[in-house]
Amino acid sequence: MNYQVKLDAVEQTNVGIDELTEPLTFPVEAYLSPDYAKAEGDRLWAKVWQHAARVEEIPEVGDFVTYEIGRDSIIIIRTAPDKLKAFHNVCSHRARQLIDTPPGTNGVSGHRKLFVCGFHAWRYDIDGNCTYKHDEFDWKGALTDERTHLQEVRVDTWGGWVFINMDLNAVSLREYLDEAADILDPFQMEKMRYKWRQWVIFDCNWKTAIEAFMEPYHVTGTHSQMLANGDYYAYSAAYGMHGVSGFDVKSEENKAKSASSVMRAGKSGKDPRVSTYELQKEIYDTVNNASTTLTLVNAAKRLVDELPEGTPAPDVIKHWLKRAREDDAARGVEWPDITPEQQGKAGLAWSVFPNMSILQGITFALCYRARPYGDDPNKCIFESYAIERFPEGEEPKTEWVYAEATRDKWGLVLSQDFSNMAAVQRGMHSRAFRGTLPNPHQERKVTNFHRNLADYMGTGGLRLLK
Ligand code: FES
Ligand SMILES: [Fe+2]
Repeated sequence: MNYQVKLDAVEQTNVGIDELTEPLTFPVEAYLSPDYAKAEGDRLWAKVWQHAARVEEIPEVGDFVTYEIGRDSIIIIRTAPDKLKAFHNVCSHRARQLIDTPPGTNGVSGHRKLFVCGFHAWRYDIDGNCTYKHDEFDWKGALTDERTHLQEVRVDTWGGWVFINMDLNAVSLREYLDEAADILDPFQMEKMRYKWRQWVIFDCNWKTAIEAFMEPYHVTGTHSQMLANGDYYAYSAAYGMHGVSGFDVKSEENKAKSASSVMRAGKSGKDPRVSTYELQKEIYDTVNNASTTLTLVNAAKRLVDELPEGTPAPDVIKHWLKRAREDDAARGVEWPDITPEQQGKAGLAWSVFPNMSILQGITFALCYRARPYGDDPNKCIFESYAIERFPEGEEPKTEWVYAEATRDKWGLVLSQDFSNMAAVQRGMHSRAFRGTLPNPHQERKVTNFHRNLADYMGTGGLRLLK
């Protein structure tokens, strides 16, 4: 297979959002082609809203963080108690980066009242105005404010995340997030704070990495130990550019008994008082103390003492969540009111186009982000972090920690996911591979992602298998 095709040389086809229910395929160029990887910088990353940081990283005026995406580096800075600004990290004189972003760092943070360029000492205030040009008179008046101002990047926030967009003509962030934001707003994730955050470099494309978290279809093959305590049949659905997955049941008569989110009973057929605890404990122990909370685990542990044998699963869940909510309230953690309908619609995990994954609960979320590593299609920067509600003043202090992809550093479940990354990328390179065959029911988030990606890139669209 010759994947080093010139972009635009291939006739573009794609499907509509309603056709995602059909068996589909798409080519592997997007994972492998150096031309494609280079074009992504201009066609995708320079055009989309993308999650760059959490608001909590820059609480004070003058606090900044850098965000690296491909060849671009962006400075995001708080310029007033209620205002953020973002600029390209480049001096208008002769292009020195204003903030050094050495290899081995994952974003640089700090505090500035002004930026002084390390090359010829030009200065910028935090609003991006160039306030000092050494020997300015030599330019005979040509250095206008407009010519020397830092180049702005759009910035906005949602759910406690800072998003940036390099396209000054893009739609608003809210319009971009659309229904995904409406459905997730009740979770009030802006009130959650980092619990931990880790990053690593993988030998695979950023899409290979983020797609590993778009579907629970891989649980049987990758995390077979999880089948002892839970059922993992999943639906997935597209909401415009974004997508969601949730737990599903294979037979119609069981549908009424199931819950689509992580707030659910464990394995069907077991005593739900026991299986709820076993599932929560397993998740906590093997997903790096994330994807649930200690409050939820401890409240689940008491279910056998607090409820009689034979209590139906929905009543067990109701009791468990009520008790956990009381336990949290006692330590100063308020839960938002989320109706069962809102909870059901929000499902298990969201993909926000292009590279953000949020597995949410009422009091926590486990998130992933994958980004290109320069323009190398066979490498990526991968990050995972947990956010949680903490009593005020008890939020942990965190920073990005580089962590090799081992069980020791990430827990059993994530290290199992990581073991597929390079192997999938290697397989994509096989001359015998004929294009992917995503599951039309359970992996629709993946196909919806490629449907939208193809629209941005002008290549790599989906085709019907039949
Ligand atoms: S490159 Fe910044 S002052 Fe010269
Ligand atoms: Fe997984």
